[in-house]
Amino acid sequence: MQTTISFVLDGKIVALDFNSGSQLTPTTTVLNYLRSLPNHKGAKEGCAEGDCSACTVVLGELAAESKIYYRSVDSCLLFLPMLHGKQLITVENLQNKKGQLHYVQSAMVEAGGSQCGFCTPGIVMSLFSLYKNHNMPTREQINDAITGNLCRCTGYKPIVEAAAQACVYDGIDHFTDDELATVEFLKSISHDSIHIRTKDQEYFRPHNLNEALSLKSKYPNAIVISGSTDVALRVTKGHEVLPQLIDLSGVDELQSIQETADTLTLGAGMILSDVHQAVKNNYPALYAILSVFGSQQIRNVATLGGNLGTASPISDTLPVLMAYNATIILQSIKAKREISLDEFILGYRKTARKLDELITAVRLLQSQNGAIIKSYKISKRKDLDISSVSAGFRLEFNDNKTVKDIKLIYGGMADRTKRATNTEQFLLGKLWKREIVEEARLFINNDFIPISDARGSAEFRTTAAKNLLLKFWSETV
Ligand SMILES: Cc1cc2nc3c(=O)[nH]c(=O)nc-3n(C[C@H](O)[C@H](O)[C@H](O)COP(=O)(O)OP(=O)(O)OC[C@H]3O[C@@H](n4cnc5c(N)ncnc54)[C@H](O)[C@@H]3O)c2cc1C
Ligand code: FES
Ligand code: FES
Repeated sequence: MQTTISFVLDGKIVALDFNSGSQLTPTTTVLNYLRSLPNHKGAKEGCAEGDCSACTVVLGELAAESKIYYRSVDSCLLFLPMLHGKQLITVENLQNKKGQLHYVQSAMVEAGGSQCGFCTPGIVMSLFSLYKNHNMPTREQINDAITGNLCRCTGYKPIVEAAAQACVYDGIDHFTDDELATVEFLKSISHDSIHIRTKDQEYFRPHNLNEALSLKSKYPNAIVISGSTDVALRVTKGHEVLPQLIDLSGVDELQSIQETADTLTLGAGMILSDVHQAVKNNYPALYAILSVFGSQQIRNVATLGGNLGTASPISDTLPVLMAYNATIILQSIKAKREISLDEFILGYRKTARKLDELITAVRLLQSQNGAIIKSYKISKRKDLDISSVSAGFRLEFNDNKTVKDIKLIYGGMADRTKRATNTEQFLLGKLWKREIVEEARLFINNDFIPISDARGSAEFRTTAAKNLLLKFWSETV
């Protein structure tokens, strides 16, 4: 067990020892750490909750074949130990050694992409991540890269222009020149487990699943984190001191993906950006919902296991995963079990997971028996917004075009993700015709008594839920 964390910053390895009376804690955010340094104050705090991305930095991670993979993240939601074994790149690192601006920076200047400048370092870092990942990006890829970045004064047109102008050099820049040296640095960082104990907190970062399960068995009440995009808000907005944490972000087994002829098994620790790519061809409804999940900065850190672990009634992956009849794998040091997601969700943020268990994977069947599956998300903004109502629908027909099986799963309509069982019952065995679906919509009133809140009144939610059913019908005939 080591007590320090190490990462690459400014072309050298930085080692931080939390146990040596330093002010740093395991829940100090990367943003607060950067802003405590003399030369890294470019990243800004706008919201401290992932909604503005003024704090965007880029993480370089060692990928296969000794390549470095660059991803934009919100530093306000990232706990410092999560940097271990990675390269941290901030806006101050973008100029080359001769003091010349990076292509994305000069393009922003030329296109007039900045006014007050508060958002600019974050936008530049998002463009840098785009530059490293997409040569000649499409408009859709540019939009997606800056979806999380809020700019109140400039307007996005010049920023989009700057992106298109800059990203034409195959991602080559001074980071490419330094890549071999950085790879060697990253390889030299020990991947042993980490254990940090400060006055008020204890933090574990196990490096394999067995160790993670042992820790969960020994400390059943410890707070588990995977990407911490949900848990971090307890610190940044709730100002809580989290006493004991088990961080799963260093457990490789949880990040793996296994494919057989019958199933696709996604590790619970896979970040949503990777899940998004993995399901692109065979699970279009899941792909669609992940395309409007948070922002790229969130999807680059948030995990599938974390989304299910929240058991939030507005979790965006739950309805669609239920529509795919996905199962969840729960594991303790003693046993492993696989249950359906319907069995997993018990109530408001309540699940069937026992205290000593971890979510280790989600399993999808390769074949859906010809079922039509669709997902929907209704929110005030298309991107980076929480669902008012969401849905995952599954429909199978008999040969005579009557409904053989139907699952209508809604988010945002109850204290948990919930099926419209009365509506389903009404539709079973009936012809899938407009008049019948119109009639079925009335049963939504029996299925849900939604609440009114800032995201929508109960009446709005009920109407939206009914209309989604009609939309589903119109998209299936
Ligand atoms: C700006 C912003 C935008 C967001 N947008 C969306 C959105 O569009 N849709 C949406 O659904 N959510 C959204 N979220 C919520 C959140 O990002 C997601 O729920 C995310 O998937 C959580 O994953 P994580 O790995 O960060 O979870 P964490 O914060 O690490 O954990 C979340 C919960 O799951 C538990 N947990 C994590 N991993 C495991 C495990 N392996 N086993 C057991 N328990 C575990 C934790 O203990 C915790 O209770 C957003 C959040 C922010 C801050
Ligand atoms: S400060 Fe707003 S996303 Fe980090
Ligand atoms: S330039 Fe002012 S917020 Fe973007």
